[in-house]
Amino acid sequence: MIYNFASGPSMLPEIVLQRAQSEMLNWNGTGLSVMEMPFTCDEFQSIAKQAKTNLASLLDLTENYHILFMQGGAYGHFSLLAMNLLGKNKQADYVQTGHWSNRATNEARRYADINIVASSEASGFDHVPEQSKWNINNKAAYCHITSNETADGVQFHWTPDTGTVPLIADVTSDFLTRKLDVSQYGMIYASAQKNVGVAGLTIVIIRDDLLDQYMDITPTVFNYSEQARNNSRVNTLPTYSIYIAGLIFEWLLNLGGLSAIEYVNRRKAETLYTAIDNNDLYQCSVNSVDRSTVNICFNLSNPALEETFLNEANDLQLINLKGHGAKGGIRASLYNAMPQSGVDALTSFMQDFSIKHG
Ligand SMILES: Cc1ncc(COP(=O)(O)O)c(C=O)c1O
Repeated sequence: MIYNFASGPSMLPEIVLQRAQSEMLNWNGTGLSVMEMPFTCDEFQSIAKQAKTNLASLLDLTENYHILFMQGGAYGHFSLLAMNLLGKNKQADYVQTGHWSNRATNEARRYADINIVASSEASGFDHVPEQSKWNINNKAAYCHITSNETADGVQFHWTPDTGTVPLIADVTSDFLTRKLDVSQYGMIYASAQKNVGVAGLTIVIIRDDLLDQYMDITPTVFNYSEQARNNSRVNTLPTYSIYIAGLIFEWLLNLGGLSAIEYVNRRKAETLYTAIDNNDLYQCSVNSVDRSTVNICFNLSNPALEETFLNEANDLQLINLKGHGAKGGIRASLYNAMPQSGVDALTSFMQDFSIKHG
């Protein structure tokens, strides 16, 4: 059994892949692969509609939110969200908690005057700054956070209170890994290739009152208001990625929804953090209350052993454990599709490795 700890694109549930395989050449008796269907045909419309309904059900979404199926990747939406939300207001609030929120901030600087509400950069992005230290600009068009820092292993375990300033979250790496009260947010967005399937799809969920505040330069296909009004069909949708996302939503609903998967994910993360904290060879520098349940980043106390660690893990089919290029070290991404047995195999290897090399 191969366990793929990649940060994305990443492991998918085998049962979903098998279903896609069985439907690959002939979806629902149509004689067509989903890949071959026009995005405007009834068959694909039904696939997209069911995916949307299932996602809304997983999130208990109220009617004043629009689900948009878009492209561009979360990185693209760092710019697009600024174009769509700033209107004539050129001020935006950003919270910096790691690599990805830094990138989001830098992209938005092209369009807005940025106020850094809080930052953990000085201590190497090892925590989420507590709310009492936040300096919100109440005139900002929005306040942006990154709910889970994929490269740094830092995660919000509480929802910020930004008052009248709409809260916007990049939820790319922890979307659908735990319960999420979307009503606390003006907008959330995520690339699909971690917990929602295949690269190419970016999901934006935006509240009604934030539409129609786009800048004139916003490209039509990336205009959230146009996409909301046209059921995400302004141009060709990433159809196959939406189909796979739909299968993932169905899989999650069958498992018991987000509280059920959150329970499984918590247990996986606890298993790995316990193995790290109980062994002197391994060190996690993230503040314990802000540790990610999804991307678990750690170092070896003897960095010279890191390459050997990765090679030996690889030999045991525990693959893609190398940390993010900007951070180094080891990173185990425990997305929804990673079973507890994968984490058990990793912790057992870590124990053996520390005895052998410790
Ligand atoms: C939190 C976060 N935001 C944004 C991105 C960028 O996503 P994409 O490459 O799909 O644009 C990533 C990618 O890993 C991410 O983890």
